[in-house]
Amino acid sequence: IGEGVYAANCAGCHGASGEGVAGAFPPLADGHAAALAAADRNYLPNVLLYGLAGPITVRGTVYNGQMPAWSALSDEEIAETINYLLASWGNAEAQPGDPYTADEIAAARATPRSPQEVHAERHALALE
Ligand code: HEM
Repeated sequence: IGEGVYAANCAGCHGASGEGVAGAFPPLADGHAAALAAADRNYLPNVLLYGLAGPITVRGTVYNGQMPAWSALSDEEIAETINYLLASWGNAEAQPGDPYTADEIAAARATPRSPQEVHAERHALALE
């Protein structure tokens, strides 16, 4: 189900293959989603549940947009969408860790955050 959720809700901005649009929508491919999962396992659930607002740098390119929240998706849909990212486009090779479960998404849902708070968590990650 993750592939279908991604195609319907994510691909329009992040690209059909997670390639992104430089300077507008960050890539999720080539190990980037796996790097985010490895840096903090809770980060990807929080981005999908609560969105993201504030400047980020991905591989030397700055993005300063608004990632919408996807809290209307079910816990299973969010888990499977993340698992789809982590199984695709060079992420599986980059040690993304164990697949996410719906229970993990439910746990993240129990602690609401603002998109700005998710940004602060992103900023604290040790990336590259
Ligand atoms: C950021 C995934 C839908 C626009 C991100 C990040 C992830 C992600 C993991 C964080 C990247 C990082 O921290 O390096 C997804 C998934 C989606 C989705 C799985 C579908 C459920 C969308 C859509 C849009 C969008 C539809 C456009 C309307 C953005 C933007 C950022 C971002 C602009 C960067 C925000 C900032 O600069 O702070 N997305 N996304 N995303 N996403 Fe999405």
